[in-house]
Amino acid sequence: MLIRQAARRTSGNGVRRVAANALRRLSSSREPESGTTSSGNLTALSAALLAAGVGWDYSNDFRFTRAAYLYASDNIVMPLMRLLDAESAHNVSIKATAWGLSPCDLTPNDPILQTQVLGLTFPNAIGLAAGYDKNAEAVNGLLDMGFGFIEIGTVTPEPQPGNDKPRMFRLVEDKAVINRCGFNNHGAVAVAERLKARAEAQQGPAKGFLGVNVGKNKWVAEDKAADDYCAAIKALAPYGDFVVVNVSSPNTPGLRLLQRREAIASLIERAADARDQVQVQTKKATLPLLVKIAPDLTEQEKADIAAVALSSRVDGLIVSNTTIARPAGLRSNFKGETGGLSGAPLRDASTAIIADMYRLTGGKVPLIGVGGVGTGQDAYDKIRAGASLVQIYSMMVYNGAGCVQRVKKELAALLRKNGYASVAEAVGAAHREKK
Ligand SMILES: Cc1cc2nc3c(=O)[nH]c(=O)nc-3n(C[C@H](O)[C@H](O)[C@H](O)COP(=O)(O)O)c2cc1C
Repeated sequence: MLIRQAARRTSGNGVRRVAANALRRLSSSREPESGTTSSGNLTALSAALLAAGVGWDYSNDFRFTRAAYLYASDNIVMPLMRLLDAESAHNVSIKATAWGLSPCDLTPNDPILQTQVLGLTFPNAIGLAAGYDKNAEAVNGLLDMGFGFIEIGTVTPEPQPGNDKPRMFRLVEDKAVINRCGFNNHGAVAVAERLKARAEAQQGPAKGFLGVNVGKNKWVAEDKAADDYCAAIKALAPYGDFVVVNVSSPNTPGLRLLQRREAIASLIERAADARDQVQVQTKKATLPLLVKIAPDLTEQEKADIAAVALSSRVDGLIVSNTTIARPAGLRSNFKGETGGLSGAPLRDASTAIIADMYRLTGGKVPLIGVGGVGTGQDAYDKIRAGASLVQIYSMMVYNGAGCVQRVKKELAALLRKNGYASVAEAVGAAHREKK
């Protein structure tokens, strides 16, 4: 952010100087795994390119330089980042984004992508999924990239280190990721302080909405889980626009058992009480509560969750988390790693479960669709299956940060081509055509 603010005030050369300072700080704040010489050089090189891009971004030959910047970001920086191990690259990208070095979407949102759902008017229907900015370190930079909403987390009440490294793997041949991070995060108190500082520094309305995704600490037993979710909601929800109860990570033992009918019904009641309490305290007009579900549910489990969603105080579902399935045809050597699979191989499975949940809830419960989205067509398919909003994560690893702008542009074109005046009109269209 500092860099972007400086950039607005100074010449291209000035920006590059500011960026160079930022870069020195960036590469000196080492992650344990990225401290090797080659990683350090790569980090420096990647960030230097990004920094140079910021200079171009604000120079006179605006259109050419923006295109060149996006090209460099997606075709030079991203491939270089892939030379780092997955988690180091992830950490560098978070730092770079927090420093305002990521591509900034200066195009106004296309009105066709603006959408009203969950009592909120989203500037566009494309968001960032949970797990990328777990600790809310780069929220404004991510919103600057063009997302209509960002979901931070999963955050647990106490900080926890997560599983042993390596725990994130790129399946390049499959355009996929496997992770078994295990909710590594700074804990609710630290993340809430960061969000509070952001709120205090905020001038004018934010560019998009913020979702806070909460979970339980690894060592907390199932019968005490609701206490953890409520503690995290009370700490974080005051700074969020919506709350997500994550019961679907495959990397916390026993967590997905919370998706069973009685367990999810009672967890939602407790979480809704905590949400209501925060809403009263903060005088927020609305504070929607969503539950994030797995793609690996049986037909009975899906029907149970749909029934609970219809009869409880939950406002929406996020469909879906990563899968423990390993579809036939995966080619990467990492396909046997334990953890949740995301990216291209999850795309159709998650679209199918969005369609199932839309049908089972009669379209009455708003859905956020997530899984393998990398193009406007992918987002459009999820919307037609029943998603009111769509999130991206893994495909950014392969398509670059510029993919946010591309997805939005392609989605807007597809909506127009097919005669829709808004995202909302297309939600669930596939079901209506079947009849
Ligand atoms: C490295 C990684 C970490 C993730 N961590 C979380 C998390 O902490 N909480 C959560 O709800 N989802 C998490 N997810 C799941 C994503 O939010 C998303 O549901 C899933 O990856 C499918 O979307 P995608 O194919 O676009 O990545 C994570 C995904 C990845 C790849």
